Amino acid sequence: MSGAHALAGAALAITSAEVALGGCSASGNAVAYVEDATDRATHGDAVSDAHTVMNDVAATQDAQAFDAFVSDRSADAWSSSADLDAPVDASTIVMAPHAPPTLAATGLFTDLDRNGTLRLATGVQPFQPRYALWSDGAEKARWVYLPPGKKIDSSDPDHWSFPVGTKFWKEFAVGGKRIETRFIERFGPGPDDYLYAAYWWKATDAASPTDAVLADADVGVPSANGTNHDIPSQAFCVRCHGPLQEHVLGFGALELNHAMPGVTIATLTQGRWLSQPLPSDLDFPGVDTKTRDAIGYLHANCGNCHNFTPGVYMIPEPRMDLRVRIGQPLEETGAYKTALNVEITKFYHPAAPAITYRIAGGDPPHSCVSFRMGDLTKDNRMPPIATKVVDSQGLAVVNAWVATLPAPPNR
Ligand code: HEC
Ligand code: HEC
Repeated sequence: MSGAHALAGAALAITSAEVALGGCSASGNAVAYVEDATDRATHGDAVSDAHTVMNDVAATQDAQAFDAFVSDRSADAWSSSADLDAPVDASTIVMAPHAPPTLAATGLFTDLDRNGTLRLATGVQPFQPRYALWSDGAEKARWVYLPPGKKIDSSDPDHWSFPVGTKFWKEFAVGGKRIETRFIERFGPGPDDYLYAAYWWKATDAASPTDAVLADADVGVPSANGTNHDIPSQAFCVRCHGPLQEHVLGFGALELNHAMPGVTIATLTQGRWLSQPLPSDLDFPGVDTKTRDAIGYLHANCGNCHNFTPGVYMIPEPRMDLRVRIGQPLEETGAYKTALNVEITKFYHPAAPAITYRIAGGDPPHSCVSFRMGDLTKDNRMPPIATKVVDSQGLAVVNAWVATLPAPPNR
């Protein structure tokens, strides 16, 4: 891919975001990453003005960043349907739709029983990813709707492309009470044609509310229903879901290879939903569970931002790859190649001067990954958004694996 093509690709994505913001409701596509790519201290937390954002995009996408972008990408063959090198057909540009005003209107359910059970709409199926995102202990449920007669393009098995009309939901409950249901819909064929919305199960006097309402896209709902749970703004959805070309983070070949209830690789194959069938024995790399669980945890919780996916310009600096590809030998994973005994490039904290490696083999206390997972200070916290509580179990899994790794050569 030439530099000119890479630039054209990024410009195309920005243009479609502008279309979405200018014409209809802002779906937030391709907008919020800028803050990650620039200095958080300079830009603050909220991305409020779309035009400022667009100017920032122009200002911060400097030649150096694009050089890095291009050289990263040229190493990889990239043959997805979302190929930014492909000629642009204006007739395929679809305006971002307005998010429906209520959750029922998104098509998730038809009825809510007195005991709170959702009666799912026809075609809506539950699923679970093998490794979940830590959400401060909230209980989660997930559903998918695949449009009948269409197929998921699995020709690149690491990055599926979903047919237009595919919908995903994720529900959050705290203490057994529903608080929020998130919604993603692929509304058009463009690479960023994904709508993100959050629905708020408001606390009511009734024993249980009958539907959830669209939350404010700009600010979300902090401490919803008096809990510790924040309903995120749309910009936050994009910061986590934007830096992978498939935009859908927990519904893929490695995450669905399990025997838990709901949609799995086996059921997708059986229902002929995949354009290219996939074996149902794919796994995360590593001979032992300790390794697989740590690699899987980082894949699910960090790899959506920290990855080298070709063709995606929203990936934040510094480049570190914590997303696994199918069939990758353990030593070839990004965790080994770009984190183990690799010096930090960006992180600096006066209180943690001894941390010089992203992962210091055998030494969790001196590993930046472990430090940032275990620290709640704003500038240290990883992931940087949507969490206020340390995942002590997840940290223990990562640390147990780090402890088994070889030390840096100079130690
Ligand atoms: C901190 C990062 C983060 C933020 C912020 C975030 N998500 Fe996600 N989301 C994830 C990850 C990782 C998964 C997959 C793992 C899981 O479900 O536990 C996921 C899963 C989902 C799913 C199920 C389909 C899928 O991608 O696997 C939906 C729907 C969803 N998110 C919607 C949203 C919406 C809407 C917002 C904003 C209101 C949002 N998310 C904000 C990281 C995030
Ligand atoms: C929403 C996107 C996002 C997610 C998810 C995320 N990070 Fe980060 N990460 C960033 C950004 C942006 C930076 C650069 C700014 C900084 O260092 O604060 C960064 C930097 C880092 C660095 C510093 C690397 C260096 O060379 O200086 C480490 C280590 C790190 N992240 C670990 C993690 C881990 C571990 C997770 C998962 C538990 C994670 N991150 C999840 C966005 C993310």
